[in-house]
Amino acid sequence: TKKILIDCDPGVDDALAIALAHGSPDLDVVGLTSVGGNVELERTTNNALSLAEFYGMDVPVARGAGIPLVREQRKASDVHGSEGLGNTVLPAPKGSVLDRHAVDVIVDTLAAAPGEVSLVAVGPLTNIALALRKEPRIVEWAAEFVVMGGSYTRGNNTPAAEFNIAADPEAAAVVFGAAWHPVMIGLDVTLRARASAQVRDRFAEFGRLESELLTPSLDFYGSNRQYRDEGPAVHDVCAVAYVIDPSLFTTVPARVDVETGGRFTSGMTVTDFEDGSGEHNAVVATGLVQDAFWDLVVDSFRCVASG
Ligand code: BDR
Ligand code: CA
Repeated sequence: TKKILIDCDPGVDDALAIALAHGSPDLDVVGLTSVGGNVELERTTNNALSLAEFYGMDVPVARGAGIPLVREQRKASDVHGSEGLGNTVLPAPKGSVLDRHAVDVIVDTLAAAPGEVSLVAVGPLTNIALALRKEPRIVEWAAEFVVMGGSYTRGNNTPAAEFNIAADPEAAAVVFGAAWHPVMIGLDVTLRARASAQVRDRFAEFGRLESELLTPSLDFYGSNRQYRDEGPAVHDVCAVAYVIDPSLFTTVPARVDVETGGRFTSGMTVTDFEDGSGEHNAVVATGLVQDAFWDLVVDSFRCVASG
């Protein structure tokens, strides 16, 4: 099994990504760290804690950065609901967060097991940028770094930029500027991972996981204008799926630079597949095997549902 540390801003698709990681027999979730993003930090942190308890996980949860490095917070509560999980109402968590900052937890977790922990970021990249500033050697210690964010075609938060990058472009620039070849799971592939009606029929057997989480969260999330017809895109789930089975994705090495100055393009991930210098700094996902992806998700959710 692979160890995975997930930095997240739950968030409906974050919640599903955590379920996939917990349910997968191939992963051992060694930590959840929260960041402000879809909703405020207090809510994303509380959601991470509640979700861990609801899924029956025994995992440390640490609170991270609430606001971006430079900018004002940009939220997505229109997409995820004011509490972050759509219509889901989970019990208040019984446990509490670690008494340590997420940035320290990221650094220490990677330091304790060099080459063994996959780091996955599915929210704005504020914590990861701060961790890099605090301890640049995390680029060597992470077994891999996978980010749900960006796009080489179009954005969702703005015409040019995907939400996680648009929310903290300066942090994203630090993260893509570090020498660890992030795997960019962007909108180009995540918009193909749709929780369609046929997919959701397969969740019907999952008891409380279905009735108390999947249905209330996806009903709200899927009602967003951008998702009408095909069902909502479960962006963050794709990043965890990559860690479990990279063969579900086609990937291409590329040069990715994050726009921090543009008037209309701030947060754009400018992607050059033709960069002649051979100095690619990232690996960019360009394709997804949809049927196998959903088989993996359904199998893992079944494990969560059956405890
Ligand atoms: C990303 O933005 C958030 O709203 C989702 O949770 C996902 O991480 C998609 O653009
Ligand atoms: Ca997210």
